[in-house]
Amino acid sequence: MAYPYVSDREVRLLSTYFGDPKQRHIETYVKRGGYSALEKALGMGPDDVVEIVKSSGLRGRGGAGFPTGVKWSFMPKEKKKAHYLLCNADESEPGTFKDRELMRWDPHQLIEGCLIGAHAIRAQHVYIYCRGEFFEANQVLARAVEDAYAKGYIGENILDSGHDIEVTVHQGAGAYICGEETGMMNSLEGRRGEPRIKPPFPAAVGAFGKPSTINNVETLCAIPHIVKNGGEWYRQWGTEKSPGTKLFCVSGHVIKPGNYELPLGFPLIELIEDVCGGMKDGNALKAVIPGGSSVPLINAEEARACKLDYEGCVDVGTMLGCASVIVMDETTDIVKQVRRMVDFYAHESCGLCTPCREGTTWTAQILRRIENGKGTEDDLDTLMEMTQNMVGTTICVLSDSVAAPVQSSIEKFRDEYLALIRRGERVGAA
Ligand SMILES: Cc1cc2nc3c(=O)[nH]c(=O)nc-3n(C[C@H](O)[C@H](O)[C@H](O)COP(=O)(O)O)c2cc1C
Ligand code: SF4
Repeated sequence: MAYPYVSDREVRLLSTYFGDPKQRHIETYVKRGGYSALEKALGMGPDDVVEIVKSSGLRGRGGAGFPTGVKWSFMPKEKKKAHYLLCNADESEPGTFKDRELMRWDPHQLIEGCLIGAHAIRAQHVYIYCRGEFFEANQVLARAVEDAYAKGYIGENILDSGHDIEVTVHQGAGAYICGEETGMMNSLEGRRGEPRIKPPFPAAVGAFGKPSTINNVETLCAIPHIVKNGGEWYRQWGTEKSPGTKLFCVSGHVIKPGNYELPLGFPLIELIEDVCGGMKDGNALKAVIPGGSSVPLINAEEARACKLDYEGCVDVGTMLGCASVIVMDETTDIVKQVRRMVDFYAHESCGLCTPCREGTTWTAQILRRIENGKGTEDDLDTLMEMTQNMVGTTICVLSDSVAAPVQSSIEKFRDEYLALIRRGERVGAA
């Protein structure tokens, strides 16, 4: 397949070789141009690599969209100190399934991105924190790391450059909160996966007490392409503020769900109707969660106006997050869906902060009561007030993630809540 694969809709830069098992072999990867970006980067000073990434405008793909080059520039410049690059491969956000595919199909693309990133931030060690349940991805990655060591791309004096970088694949132990960057650092150190209070920020005091940078798998996979071809080249796709391509994980009521790599700014409705083949069974679109379960739901009208980039999603009252597009048709029971998401957060809350520990559990209980026809209209006010108190009051934003679907669903689909509440009253009165 030509690189990058460009059709009138898709731009497969990171996903060119999805489905091609040959790409896992280091010989094939090198034959197709792999590790040439690493060679180029090692011939440059770390700060020059940071400048290329800054010029590309690449924004972190782990959810927050923070500019990657800027993040890298926060790291201290003395090489003598221990520094770490941590690759966040924990991918547990409901609706997200892109990082596992990047690791399964193209492990060397990630390893090359990690090595370039490590060079740019003067790190001597990369930890890839891979979700424990990803058995295949863990095996494929471990094999690829071994092969890269054997060929001299990892280890001492890489490619005779005088630079030493080690890479460790670390299997996570199965908790959503270990995807939060400071929870991940604790887990890596062998502690409970609980987030840390910031400051200090990881670039000052990170893993093992040393300066660390945390980047998502997809972010790091974009790096070799940017270093090889330049920042301006990467900017040919996407928008001014959200440049490049993005993997969209589409699930729910569409004919062809799956991973699609598209230029940022792609219209959501065209993703649903053209790229994914339209709505299943000819049903009407009811709601979309465009960025994984932590972002507000939008209704069909808002979905029609939504451009899939960081700013375009904010314009319609939601967020791009990690671009996990959950599509719901007219048959969807919104209250049930929201309750299921809240159940997930209640189960995954680490329990450190009272608003999150108590709030997630109470929110789930009230939602279940409404779902079972035992709710009251006052419950809706309670839910709005309680979730408001869960925003901005905790150590990490897991708590805020509950407020987004609950509040947006009550605002946009209040009638569904009221129908359940009133049905309950009628049943009770009979
Ligand atoms: C509860 C929670 C879970 C998270 N899970 C993940 C995850 O699984 N993968 C990920 O890359 N980022 C996750 N993040 C975001 C990370 O904390 C961090 O911002 C990200 O890895 C930074 O990488 P980036 O700059 O490349 O986006 C999570 C954040 C929170 C609050
Ligand atoms: S917000 Fe929730 S998950 Fe995050 S630290 Fe507090 S209790 Fe733990």
